[in-house]
Amino acid sequence: MITQDLFQEPEVFITVCSVAGVAKFGKSVKNLDRRLVLNWNNFEDHQPGDMVALFDCDPEDKDRRCNNSNIIELARDSVNVECSRGYQRTTVRLERKNLSTKGETSLGWWIAYLRRSQTSSSWLVLKSNTLRIRPHWMRELRNVIGDIPLTSLMIPGTHDAGAYMEYDHIRCENIYVRYYICQEDSIYDQLVHGIRYLDVRVAHYPSTPEKFWVNHDKYRIRPLITLLEDVKRFVEETKEIIFLDFHGFPIGFTSRLIHDELFQFINKEIGKYLVPKTVPASQLTPNMLWRTNKTIVITYAESSISSLNDYLWPYLVHAWGNKRKIGDLEKYLADILVNFKQTSYFWSAMAEITPKPIDYVSKPRYGLRGFAEHVNIPLTYWFQRKNWYSNCMIVATDFYLGNNLIEMAVEVNRHKKLA
Ligand SMILES: *[C@@H]1O[C@H](CO)[C@@H](O)[C@H](O)[C@H]1NC(C)=O
Ligand SMILES: *[C@@H]1O[C@H](CO)[C@@H](O)[C@H](O)[C@H]1NC(C)=O
Repeated sequence: MITQDLFQEPEVFITVCSVAGVAKFGKSVKNLDRRLVLNWNNFEDHQPGDMVALFDCDPEDKDRRCNNSNIIELARDSVNVECSRGYQRTTVRLERKNLSTKGETSLGWWIAYLRRSQTSSSWLVLKSNTLRIRPHWMRELRNVIGDIPLTSLMIPGTHDAGAYMEYDHIRCENIYVRYYICQEDSIYDQLVHGIRYLDVRVAHYPSTPEKFWVNHDKYRIRPLITLLEDVKRFVEETKEIIFLDFHGFPIGFTSRLIHDELFQFINKEIGKYLVPKTVPASQLTPNMLWRTNKTIVITYAESSISSLNDYLWPYLVHAWGNKRKIGDLEKYLADILVNFKQTSYFWSAMAEITPKPIDYVSKPRYGLRGFAEHVNIPLTYWFQRKNWYSNCMIVATDFYLGNNLIEMAVEVNRHKKLA
């Protein structure tokens, strides 16, 4: 339950653009991906001359080099503010680095809303924020959320979590990659950023050494073991709670023996962390999981299998609109969320656009990166509506750094109270 109205105050945040392409410098061609995006919202009192800018140092840290009266000179990119809400794609790339669950959480980029001071020529920082990872957000909120059922929390997730690939213009500019790859970070990196729900489709290929693979429909992506290893490493490092949703079995699950084999395989890798079905889903709380050190909840789409297994939770309900237009997706999710009463089961709002076969032909270059860019910015603001953020549970997106749902979910959960 939430009594307060959230997201009313002015805010700034950085997102990462999902659209990728190439930049040409003379004869050489470079990848142009992961560009940082400046976002601002609720500045109803914006004034002519206000700026939003990107920094590689903290503009509010008085002891460092950003402490410069003419701070705007240090900006790596900036935009003039002309509306109370807006966004601007910058030319700055978020370089890849090895993420860790320990140490510094800022990724080294700051955004600030700036206004020229009336009395001097210096600039005032009205609001600032940094792009950060959140490897421990659930444990950090344990005094608030510890006894609240998981079904009442807001959980950021990734759609087709295992269908990830780093952008590279040589490998990625083909129709398969454009229309099957939904993410670009490894599972470990997704979790370090704050994702806690992973939507997974598994296929069985008896003639390959690995046998079990993560697929997107018929398209084989990578061995399942890589995903399980990442989840295990993360859970061992953090004790965070993960929903691992076996959502579909697109190829090769011809008999129950294959399901049994899959469970043995999962069990061998992460069995000691699996949450058993000892209470109904609606009663499962973070503290119960933390008391037993078992924090991976597996939901399994095949109910004839899950009903006979103590560690496979029943089918996770997906609110999937199968919508191709952004207005239709908004309406679909609004209809579900507006009058929603708390559920007794786990469920996920699948908040991404679903292209139709015609898009492969008519928009071959657009791809899922284009669709994600189109939906992620408005999506952030849809979920700032009270009946959306109060009533949702899991929200799964494509190219999740393109929206601000992780930061918002932490804020929402921080204000939850036991009903
Ligand atoms: C990241 O880690 C890998 C393997 O541990 C290493 O080979 C690579 O050099 C590291 N990259 C950076 C930027 O530290
Ligand atoms: C859980 O792990 C902690 C160490 O991280 C240990 O002290 C505790 O005994 C464990 N509890 C159970 C029930 O295994």
